[in-house]
Amino acid sequence: MVASLSLPRIMRVGRGAVEELGEVMAGLGLSRPLLVTDAFLVGTGAAERLSATLTGAGVSPRLFADTVPDPTTDSLTAGLKALEEHGADSVVGFGGGSPMDSAKALALLAVQGGRMRDYKAPRVTPGPALPVIAVPTTAGSGSEATQVTVITDSDTDEKMLCLGPAFQPLAAVIDPDLTLSMPPRLTADTGLDALTHAVEAYVSRRANPFTDGLALTAIGTIGRHLRRAYADGTDTVAREATMLAATQAGLAFSNSSVALVHGMSRPIGAHFQVAHGLSNAMLFPAVTAFSVHGARARYADCARALGAATAADPDDLAADRLVDALRALCLDLAVPTPRSHGIDRDDWTRLTPVMAEQALASGSPANNPVVPTTEQIRELYARIYG
Ligand SMILES: [Fe+2]
Repeated sequence: MVASLSLPRIMRVGRGAVEELGEVMAGLGLSRPLLVTDAFLVGTGAAERLSATLTGAGVSPRLFADTVPDPTTDSLTAGLKALEEHGADSVVGFGGGSPMDSAKALALLAVQGGRMRDYKAPRVTPGPALPVIAVPTTAGSGSEATQVTVITDSDTDEKMLCLGPAFQPLAAVIDPDLTLSMPPRLTADTGLDALTHAVEAYVSRRANPFTDGLALTAIGTIGRHLRRAYADGTDTVAREATMLAATQAGLAFSNSSVALVHGMSRPIGAHFQVAHGLSNAMLFPAVTAFSVHGARARYADCARALGAATAADPDDLAADRLVDALRALCLDLAVPTPRSHGIDRDDWTRLTPVMAEQALASGSPANNPVVPTTEQIRELYARIYG
């Protein structure tokens, strides 16, 4: 099998890396970025500091802070206008997954035009797009390293997965100090998203030797550090470890794939406005239990990497221990069920058929070790409601 790999050309990784953003951009010959961020990072002063770093390096950014969580097609309109007015030659995505995903979509639309619906998976979108420089402030989505963006169609509420080299950041500046202010809930949700990326990349039917190493390393690091980062947000060792792991998990799934957890998670986020990492976490143990018999040896490797099983444990036992370990992790990180999260049972039941259809249509379930039927996806949604 030939693995088709896409990576950022430049990465700066480590505490204080953000100070080097201007230098990175100048080195790439980029001077007029649209700085895409959100109101929260404007409020904390972080966007202003980043802007000043760029200006100090001779770069002329224009700030665009009107991104929304789980970006929609409608939310891109104003960004595109700002980008054109500025005569931008690049886009900086500064924030969690949402500003970075917005930046990627804007960079594509600025050059190729059309609507995001035109670029929905399973279509693979090649370049060109404006260069994207990603500066993450969470340790989760891995978007800084992936050729993936997720945009919600404002007309249908569908969370559309869009992928291809056009969405690959040219550079990523990964500074764990930017994650120190994340509250525990966000730390847990984003960390669980990264763990899901790593496990799904490893068990995916599209896994390859390049992504396997990254995935297992990320699983181990998250297993050792996520509870610590959740318990004490100022633990710089845990923050540094989980951020690197999130990037590695992003590189892994972007060059392999995600699978059934993500396929089923996107519709929950779209219809019930559940944070992405949290909807993954709600599904993760049950979907893993459903899937283990399709790839026991692979899930066993994940269990051993996570520290939930030893090399001496046979694969069957180790794979089952992974499910137990994921349940325990979700418990420790206070992951709710859809019911305890406040989602109405009737709404859940009524929307289950359309969620199942959208999950399947995204293509992600087809990469799962056990490819589910629509009926099985419906059963899984019923099982996790709580
Ligand atoms: Fe994800």
